[in-house]
Amino acid sequence: MLTQRPRGTADLLPGEVESWRRLEDTFREVCRTYHYQEIRTPIFEHTELFARGVGETTDIVEKEMYTFEDHGERSLTLRPEGTAGVVRAFVENKLYGNPDLTKLFYIGPMFRYEKPQKGRWRQFHQYGVEVLGSEAPDVDAEVIALGATFLERLGLGRVQLEMNSVGCAECRPRHREAMVAALRPVADRLCADCQSRLERNPLRIFDCKNESCQALLREVNAPTVLDCLCDACAEHFDAVKRLLQETGVSYTVNPRLVRGLDYYTRTAWEFIVPGYSTVAGGGRYNGLVAEVGGPETPGVGFAGGLERALLVLQEQGIHPAQKSALAVYIAVADDTAATTAARLLQQVREAGISADRDYQNKGLKAQFKAADRLGARFVLVLGENEVAAGTVSVKDLTTGEQVAVAQDQLVSYLSTRV
Ligand code: HAM
Repeated sequence: MLTQRPRGTADLLPGEVESWRRLEDTFREVCRTYHYQEIRTPIFEHTELFARGVGETTDIVEKEMYTFEDHGERSLTLRPEGTAGVVRAFVENKLYGNPDLTKLFYIGPMFRYEKPQKGRWRQFHQYGVEVLGSEAPDVDAEVIALGATFLERLGLGRVQLEMNSVGCAECRPRHREAMVAALRPVADRLCADCQSRLERNPLRIFDCKNESCQALLREVNAPTVLDCLCDACAEHFDAVKRLLQETGVSYTVNPRLVRGLDYYTRTAWEFIVPGYSTVAGGGRYNGLVAEVGGPETPGVGFAGGLERALLVLQEQGIHPAQKSALAVYIAVADDTAATTAARLLQQVREAGISADRDYQNKGLKAQFKAADRLGARFVLVLGENEVAAGTVSVKDLTTGEQVAVAQDQLVSYLSTRV
C-alpha cells in the first residue's frame, strides 16, 4: 500500500508534465484571446453546495462524491466539478456588482468516485469557462466557439459537436408530464434506477447506460424536451444554431443529449471524438446563481478533461511537448576545477541558460555520456589547465566543434548560441 497510489489517480512524471503544460498554456492563450480571466477556487467546498448545485438526483451527488467531516464536524466535499464553486465565489465576492459580464476560466483537479477505466479517473483535471450575467444566445455561441477553437488548436481532429436544448422552468414540467404518461404503463420494464428517476427526474432516463432502458425509450417514442420547448426556448436555441453557422462552427442536434448535472437550462452540448468518452461538455444554467443564494443571474459554460484530450492526442501519435532539453553541461575534469565550475554554473544559470553538472564524482567519460543522455547542446570542460589559463573548453555536441573561451566571455559566447 505504501508504494501504491490510490486507485484512479496518476503520477505525472517528467516527460508527461511538459505535455500537460502545453495543453494548459494553449487553453490559457485561447482564453486570453476571448478575454476571459482566470479564477481559482478551493479544492473542497461545503457538501451542500454540490448537493444543491449539481442536483440531488445526479450520479455525481448520489454515488460519486468524496465527502468527509472535518474536525469541526462540517461536511465537506472534494469538488467533483468546477461550476458550483465558481458560482459560489461569484455570489460570495459579489462579482454581480460588476457592470460588465463576468467571464472566467479555470484549470484544476476534480474528484469523482467512479469506476476507473480508460479516460476515467477518480482525480482528473478540468479546463473550463463560465460566463455570468447574460442570457444572450450570442454568449452560448461564444463559449461553444471558444471550446471548439481550443480543441482544434490542440490538433484533436474529428471532434464532433452535439447540441440540444433542455428547456426551462416552463417547458420542463410539460416534458416531465409527457415522459411520465409515456413510461408509466411500462415502468416495470425500466431498471431500478430509472423507476426511481421516473418519479424524481424523468429526463435522466435518457442518460441511462442500460441498453434495455434506451430500447424502451425508443419503443414508446418517449418525448424529448426539444418536442416540448416553449417559444422563448425554441427561439433561443434557433439563435444559438444560427450564430454557430455564421461563425463556422459545425454541429449536429441530438435531442436525446442529457448532461450528467441538473443545473442546465436551454442549451446543452458535448464535444465528442468518435471512439472515446466525451472530451468536453457544457451548457447554460440560468437558475444556478439564485439556487446558491445569489441574485437571479443567467450563466453558461463548459469544461473538458485534460486527461481525455491527452489520451486522444497520444493515440493519434501526437506528443504536445518534449521533455525540456538542457543547454549546458559542465564536466569537471579534476577536483581543482570544482570551485570554478560552481562559479561558472551560477553565472550561466543567472543568464537564463539551463545548466547542470555532475555531483556523483563521475569520470570525464561518464560525464560526457551523461551530457548526451540529458540532451545537452554544449559540454563545458574544466580541468587544471583551463583553471590556470582562465578559460573553459566549450564543445558543441551538435557539430562536435570544440573551442577555448575566456571564462569572462563565457556567458556572452553561450547567449548568442543557445
Ligand atoms: P461534465 O460533463 O461532468 O461537466 O465534465 C466535463 C468533462 O470533464 C467531461 O466531458 C470529461 O472530459 C471530463 N471528466 C468528467 N469526469 C471525468 C473523469 N472521471 N475522468 C476524466 N475526465 C472526466 C461538468 O463538470 C460541468 N461543470 C461543465 C460545465 C461548466 N457546465 C457548465 N459550465
